[in-house]
Amino acid sequence: MAVGPINIFEYEALAKEKLSPAEYDFIAGGATDEITLRRTRTAFESIMLRPRMLVDISQPDLSTTVLGHPIAFPVLVDPAGHHGRAHPEGELATVRAAGAMDTALLLSSGSSYRLKDVAEAAAGPIWFQQYLYQDQSLTQRMAHRAQEAGYSALCLTLDSTVRAKRERNIRNQYVAPSSPNYEGLEVPEYSWGLSSDAPRGVNTLIDRAATWPQLDWLAAQTPLPLVVKGIMTAEDARLCVEHGVKAVIVSNHGARQLDTTFASIEVLPEVVDAVDGQLEVYLDGGIRRGTDVFKALALGARAVLIGRPLFWGLAVDGEAGVRAVLGMLRDELEMTMGMCGRPTIESIDRSVLGTVSPLQSVLQGLSLQSEV
Ligand SMILES: Cc1cc2nc3c(=O)[nH]c(=O)nc-3n(C[C@H](O)[C@H](O)[C@H](O)COP(=O)(O)O)c2cc1C
Repeated sequence: MAVGPINIFEYEALAKEKLSPAEYDFIAGGATDEITLRRTRTAFESIMLRPRMLVDISQPDLSTTVLGHPIAFPVLVDPAGHHGRAHPEGELATVRAAGAMDTALLLSSGSSYRLKDVAEAAAGPIWFQQYLYQDQSLTQRMAHRAQEAGYSALCLTLDSTVRAKRERNIRNQYVAPSSPNYEGLEVPEYSWGLSSDAPRGVNTLIDRAATWPQLDWLAAQTPLPLVVKGIMTAEDARLCVEHGVKAVIVSNHGARQLDTTFASIEVLPEVVDAVDGQLEVYLDGGIRRGTDVFKALALGARAVLIGRPLFWGLAVDGEAGVRAVLGMLRDELEMTMGMCGRPTIESIDRSVLGTVSPLQSVLQGLSLQSEV
């Protein structure tokens, strides 16, 4: 009997066969030269692990909390538009998978299914992602709808104000589908297709004049805690603390917005150090292995999120595919924790990491000696 996909890369390969080339490119692609997209993987690959022996790892515990919500392991589902592009059940399948795996889902405001219908299918924590719109009443009404439907946090995406240049989509003349979440909210129908690189997509609605005090305004409109997505510097992280944000997602939007930024994992330590425990820090971008999750936790992330892998799981096998992808990351994380002698999430610290090869240090010492 043939063995099915055994890792996320194999899920991607299978999904590529099932999706149209333009749809695959839309999901997989990044901005302009995709330098940051490639860097995201090489950054993880360049971090080495230091295994530890004879630690009691008989009772591994991967559970943690995010904004007080217990989850079984620290991998959440990122907000990403139109899950329907990968499977007809779209976000209904994804939210069921997240619930079954005992983790949280962040719903994109550009979802294929109404935020209310997705909430009704949820069994675990759900947070709603939105933007700061030019029309402040739209921002308010979206936030209220999310709260009424049962979402327990608002995730504000800040990195999509400017329309990105995603060349694969230009080449494919890709047109994003529209989202029903904007129905009845008096926005022009053309802007429902909320892809951040659609010629008349979400960027036409977002407030380009917004500045930090807008966060205080939004916090006053809703009892929901604010999670800010798209933080890549210590400066902005400190501003999030000052403006009462409860969590930040260190993210460059999966390398889909500004090319030639650092990989998110590279800037994670500066953000963690800047916020100094005053808010929760999560990370997304390039998480494909349990070792990647482990490295992000070691550098101070409380949890990570996955974007593209959920589409690969959905395209291959709907809800079961998303469960499988999440399950692979959970199992690989558990394996890594065991081999590094870290039985709990709290026990994962920076001392498990290494980047400079110990051999290189020795060889450098030798060459210095021979020069004398
Ligand atoms: C197809 C697709 C659609 C996305 N749509 C949104 C969105 O609507 N809102 C948002 O904040 N981020 C969106 N993102 C970005 C993801 O939330 C996330 O930052 C990124 O995918 C993480 O990187 P990864 O794909 O390598 O895991 C999208 C990403 C993809 C791949």
